[in-house]
Amino acid sequence: MRRASRIDAVEPFLAMEVLERALELEAGGARVVHLEIGEPDFAPPRGAVAACVRALEAGETRYTDSRGLRELRVAISEDHERRHGVAVDPDRILVTNGTSAAMLLVFSLLVEPGDEVIIPTPHYPCYPNFVRVCGGIPVFVPSVAEEGFRIDVPGVRRALGTRTAAIVIGSPSNPTGAVQDAATVGALADLGVPLVSDEIYDGLVYDGAVVSSALGLGGDVFVLDGFSKRYAMTGFRLGYVIAPAPAARPLQVLQQNLFISANRFVQHAGIAALRTGAATVAAMREAYAKRRERLVEGLRRLGFGVPRLPQGAFYAFADARAFDVDSRRLAFDLLERAHVAVTPGIDFGAAGEGHLRFCYAAAEADLDAAIERLARVLA
Ligand SMILES: Cc1ncc(COP(=O)(O)O)c(C=O)c1O
Repeated sequence: MRRASRIDAVEPFLAMEVLERALELEAGGARVVHLEIGEPDFAPPRGAVAACVRALEAGETRYTDSRGLRELRVAISEDHERRHGVAVDPDRILVTNGTSAAMLLVFSLLVEPGDEVIIPTPHYPCYPNFVRVCGGIPVFVPSVAEEGFRIDVPGVRRALGTRTAAIVIGSPSNPTGAVQDAATVGALADLGVPLVSDEIYDGLVYDGAVVSSALGLGGDVFVLDGFSKRYAMTGFRLGYVIAPAPAARPLQVLQQNLFISANRFVQHAGIAALRTGAATVAAMREAYAKRRERLVEGLRRLGFGVPRLPQGAFYAFADARAFDVDSRRLAFDLLERAHVAVTPGIDFGAAGEGHLRFCYAAAEADLDAAIERLARVLA
């Protein structure tokens, strides 16, 4: 069977490959410590679960307006204003089946075959693959590792060309935990090409770090966000995009065709999360802040390089070159020998090679067990 060539360019998501091998080991009786997947171990806000069940029982099981329930879009708009002080017209908000679906819609809208999309790296592994699925070409600009993975704005400026369709950034960052300051985000928003700003980890920040939303900082900005991380609602599959006004209608038309609408009862869960989920977010933030220190301290003891504490999200991106320069080999070796699942840095681009990503959205006992097991095999 002939396959579209742009699909051949899509690379495996290594975090998932590690997970899938770990599941095989578990099926054979092993007990694996999972630090590979970016998934909170917290329960979603109780109000969100209750609202979802109530909605199902009340027969809220049909399609909605393709843009999402008005009540949810108003709640998202109020939430964005509460967090960032920027008012958003709910008509610029489109509710999607997870942030991933929002990404597909936005890149489908912006990218012509042969267009380039600039991606500061290390980056979320799926960004370049969304670009490739749309026929585009990712262009990577390494962030400044010595400065806590600050995005290199002059480097991004140098990478701009006649075929640049967009710049995509994530802050707080998966995998580095870096939080970009307002000057950096503002400079990127002002470069004359659309800025796609993935803000899915906003709210999960430590030591007083502040996330600067790209919205309101100038230029054409698309904010991607969702409920997976901040509200521990990964399996609900609920996200959204806040788009420039002229892009709202074409995104709506794409959504009508590609997905019709996000799940109706899940949208009710989203409304409840925004209204009642603040305590869950605060509890997660507090727990992650402690786990982050515990994990990083353990990694440093073992000889991994973690020069700074991550400021946001729930990952430690550790330099592992003292053990192996090939992160893929090292991650699979640690999985087989120590039954500790972590993500190879190469999943996040060439700039991530030599590193491993450890997710600390895991119980403290699991973090301790991981360090103990790693100590044994790395000794
Ligand atoms: C930076 C980033 N963006 C987007 C996503 C996808 O999120 P969703 O579950 O909303 O599709 C993830 C998931 O790991 C992520 O880390």
